[in-house]
Amino acid sequence: MCGIFGYIGAKNNAAKLVLEGLKALEYRGYDSWGVAVVREQRTPPYAKASADGANSKQLGKIVIEKRVGKIGDSFLNSKFSIINSNAAIGHTRWATHGGVTQANAHPHTDCNNTLALVHNGIVENWQPLKTQLMSLGHKFRSETDTEAIAHLVEEEMKKRGFVGSVRDAFKKLAGLNAVAVLSLDGQIAVAKNGSPICLGIGKKEYFIASDAVAILPHTKKVVFLEDGQGALINKGGVKVFDLNTGRPIVKRPTHLKWSVEAVELGRYPHYMLKEIYEQPKVILNIAENYKDQIGGLASLIKESYGTYMVGCGTAAYAALVGSYLFSRIAARHVNFSVGSEFGYLTHFLTPKSLVIALSQSGETIDIIDSVRAAKEKSAKIACLVNNLGSTLYRMSDYKILLGAGPEKCVCATKSYVAKLTILLLLAYAMNDGLVGGTQLVRKASQAAEEILKKKYVEDIKKLAQKISKHDHIYVIGRGLNYPTALEAALKIKEVSYIHAEGFAAGELKHGVIALIEKGTPVLVFAPNDETYEAIISGATEIKSRGGFIIGVSPKSDPVFDVRLPVADVGDASPIVNVVVAQLLAYFLALERKADPDKPRNLAKSVTVR
Ligand code: G6P
Repeated sequence: MCGIFGYIGAKNNAAKLVLEGLKALEYRGYDSWGVAVVREQRTPPYAKASADGANSKQLGKIVIEKRVGKIGDSFLNSKFSIINSNAAIGHTRWATHGGVTQANAHPHTDCNNTLALVHNGIVENWQPLKTQLMSLGHKFRSETDTEAIAHLVEEEMKKRGFVGSVRDAFKKLAGLNAVAVLSLDGQIAVAKNGSPICLGIGKKEYFIASDAVAILPHTKKVVFLEDGQGALINKGGVKVFDLNTGRPIVKRPTHLKWSVEAVELGRYPHYMLKEIYEQPKVILNIAENYKDQIGGLASLIKESYGTYMVGCGTAAYAALVGSYLFSRIAARHVNFSVGSEFGYLTHFLTPKSLVIALSQSGETIDIIDSVRAAKEKSAKIACLVNNLGSTLYRMSDYKILLGAGPEKCVCATKSYVAKLTILLLLAYAMNDGLVGGTQLVRKASQAAEEILKKKYVEDIKKLAQKISKHDHIYVIGRGLNYPTALEAALKIKEVSYIHAEGFAAGELKHGVIALIEKGTPVLVFAPNDETYEAIISGATEIKSRGGFIIGVSPKSDPVFDVRLPVADVGDASPIVNVVVAQLLAYFLALERKADPDKPRNLAKSVTVR
């Protein structure tokens, strides 16, 4: 939540580079944005920066631009973006403390504009800090918790140099936070405890970002900071240190594997559509290349006594599908919990337990908290994660990368099918059936390709036009496709803002059916498995009460008012069925004039509690 980006280097268009970096991070929050640059005075601050602390002869002037809303493309070529500068920091905000206003947008400054600060996290003790700083004469201009940090650094700077002040101020903060602070002499200090920060190492230039994906267009060499670490970045390079002791830490850079093209939109109008279209390849890649990794995790599960799967949002639904797959294919009970509830269920964990954490970003705070709680009980941790080097990746004993490539749309699509594919193969591997499972996955990839053909997509678009004026859409499924119903409803809700609910079809008569009115659209997942007869009878009951039945099924049935045909892929049906729902959600969003890539109030990485 909230994106931080910073630049120091030989180039003199730091503001523009930071604006571009923020655009790449906008999925982390887009309530407001802001950039601070050190405008060059007589001599470029970058060229003359000292090792620590300000040197009055070399001081520049900090100029700040901030606005409410998303970063408009026109801004990338504005007057501000061409200010001559070698150093800048910026922020894209998902509001926590203080409303969505220009005053509350980051960067925040101290009383005398000698520094600019951006922040990701929540300062839990900001109120007492603010009161204390105000009593010392500090003047506040915003309602944010962040501004207290800027004044705290200013206060510390009365006693010591820049980097020492950032360190000491940061140590006084309660909660999970990451900050980047720009000094008048064009240096940047960062500090991390909880929220992610990584540093890009280029040629005579350095980058700071909440997420490595924003650094990718510049360099693939990235240093991931751990909690309790800070860094000073200036023309001399990057110095990482321990926040408590100040001692230097030697860090080896990680080489990012993603290509630059993978983060570009290319011929697609939206990332959501691009990422939906990438799914057949993502599925196939796992079928062809993951045998050893899956075998390794299957052995770990067999050795463990109690396996728990945790995820949030879409990742939680992937975990739920996993629990069904393990039950039916591997006859193995796997516990499931959403990340935010797992902390209340850890009493059973022992050193023999295995916790499998699922996360695209690897930064979701409820997942990180779950893993910490499990580690305290000495349980083993495995993860299915998309982001190399993420916090979850680094914390896990056994890691499988999803290989889905960068996912930029706020709502998860390809990372979901990647998780489902790995879980399906894992369940088969538990049962020594990996060869058969792999064949099934290949078939699923082909079936997803079929859905993405022009004619099929046009049909979904027409259906979206037909139902887009409705206020409610219901989705039902059973067994393996009960989680598909939940995920389909989530996709529709988050991108189109139509109220959608997913239900286990068996629950219909326990109250849900009261919601059906004449013409209410109901999406029915009816795969060719043991759930078919029961789901069709549920659909028939809904139809008798006026519901408009949209069947997603390999079979035709008179109950369907509209059928979206899908191939019969057995246990892989959740992988294929969800593609239909993703496309429907996408076109519903377009019909309702919503931006599917950046739904209101959401952020891709939920890094605060
Ligand atoms: C947010 C996103 C969802 C995602 C969830 C979990 O809510 O909007 O699309 O499923 O976070 O994220 P993770 O990175 O842990 O998979």
